[in-house]
Amino acid sequence: MLKDKTIVLGVCGGIAAYKAVELLRLIKKAGANVRVVMTQSALEFVGETTFRVLSENDVCTGLFNSKESSVRHIEWASEADAVVIAPATANIIGKMANGIADDALSTMMMAVTSKVMICPSMNTYMYENRAVQRNIDILEQDGFFILEPGTGELACKTSGAGRLPDPVLIFDRLVKLFYPKDLKGKKILVSAGPTREAIDPVRYISNHSSGKMGYAVAEAAEKRGGVVTLVSGPVSLSPPIGVDVIKIESAKQMADEIIKNMDDADIIIKVAAVADYRPSASHDKKIKKNGNLTASISIELTENPDILKMVGERKKERQFLAGFAAETQNLDVYALKKMEKKNLDLIVGNIVGVKGSGFEADTNKVKFFFRDGTTHDLPLMDKAKVAHKILDHISARVISS
Ligand code: PMT
Repeated sequence: MLKDKTIVLGVCGGIAAYKAVELLRLIKKAGANVRVVMTQSALEFVGETTFRVLSENDVCTGLFNSKESSVRHIEWASEADAVVIAPATANIIGKMANGIADDALSTMMMAVTSKVMICPSMNTYMYENRAVQRNIDILEQDGFFILEPGTGELACKTSGAGRLPDPVLIFDRLVKLFYPKDLKGKKILVSAGPTREAIDPVRYISNHSSGKMGYAVAEAAEKRGGVVTLVSGPVSLSPPIGVDVIKIESAKQMADEIIKNMDDADIIIKVAAVADYRPSASHDKKIKKNGNLTASISIELTENPDILKMVGERKKERQFLAGFAAETQNLDVYALKKMEKKNLDLIVGNIVGVKGSGFEADTNKVKFFFRDGTTHDLPLMDKAKVAHKILDHISARVISS
C-alpha cells in the first residue's frame, strides 16, 4: 500500500522522538519516499543527521533554511500522499486546532490536503488537560485521524495515558489510511487455524493449518473498516491489529464461540480447518508406552459438529456466509456440494497438495463459487491478496443488496 507513496513524517519535541526513527525505517522498508519535518524542540531529542541518512532526503527543520527552495514546506505539503506526526506534542496539536502557523511543521500543515494521522504523546496530566482534549476533539472534527496514545509508565515517572504507541502499531494504522472503507461498521466474524482434539494431556489430533489465510482475511476486513472478531485455533501468528481475537483449542470450543457470536455478524467467513473427528474419550493422564513393539493400540473417534452447517441452518437473510473447501481433486464438484449442504453464499475452493497453495504456504490458489452460479478462478497469489479479492466480491454483493 505504501509503495512509491510520499509520506511526510512530522517529528515534535518529546522524549518519544527516538521512536520516530524506527517508524521512518518501517515506512521506508515498505517502499515509500519519506520526507521528515522536525520542530526545533525535536532537534533537542534526536539529531537531524539520523533522519537525513535514513530517509535519504533532506530534513526540513525551518522555513527559511532550505538550499533548494524557500517554499519547500508548500511543495512537501502538496506532494504528500499522507502525513504522520509522531510524536505530536500539546504544542503542535494546539497550533493545528487553532490555525497557528509559526514554524515549518505548523505552516506546512496549513497547506496539507492529504490524509493526516496525529499521534499525541506527552505527560498524562498534559494529555488529560482540558485544552489539549478540546484541541484533539477539534482536530478529529476537522477530519484528522488521531491515534490514541498508549498507557503505562512515562519518561517523567508518572503512569497513565500519553505513551507514543509502538512504531509497528503506528505503521499499521498509517497503512490502514490507504484502504477503501467499503466495509465500514460491518460486523465480520472469521474463523482461522486448526483445531486440536485431545488424546491425552500431551497429545492431540490436528492438521497443518497455520492460520495464515484466516488471519489475512481478518486483517484485510479490519483495514477496510470492518469490526472484526476472529475465532482462532492455536497458531503462532501475532493477532491482527484492531481485531478482537478469541482463542480456542477444540472444534467443540470453536462451535460454541461461533454460535455465540454469529447473530451480530453481517458477514461470516469460515476459513478454519476444523478437525472432522475427535477421540471419543480423552485420557486425563498421559498414556504410557507398554514397550511391546508388536502390539497395536487404537483410538476410537467420534465425528465433530459441522460448525459451518450449523451456521448455515441458523443464518438470517441479511447475513452473508462464506466457507472454504480444501480439496486435492474434483474441486468444482466437492466445493459445490459443500455450498449446497451448508447453505453458503460463497465457497472458496482451495487447491491443496500442490506447491505454494493451501496449508502453511504464503500464497494460495483459489476459485470462488457463488450461490448465483458465478465463478471466479484466480491465479496463485499472496494470501493477503486472496483475502482482499474475497472481500471485494463480498463487499460488492453485501453493499448492493
Ligand atoms: O491456515 P493456512 O495454513 O493458511 O491454510 C489455509 C487453509 C488451507 C486451511 C484454508 O484456506 C482452507 O481451505 N480452509 C478450509 C479447510 C477445510 O477444512 O475444508 P473442509 O472441506 O474440511 O471444510 C469445509 C468448510 O467447513 C470450511 O469452511 C470449514 O471451516 C468448515 N467446517 C469443516 C468441518 C467442521 N467440522 N466444521 C466446519 O465448520
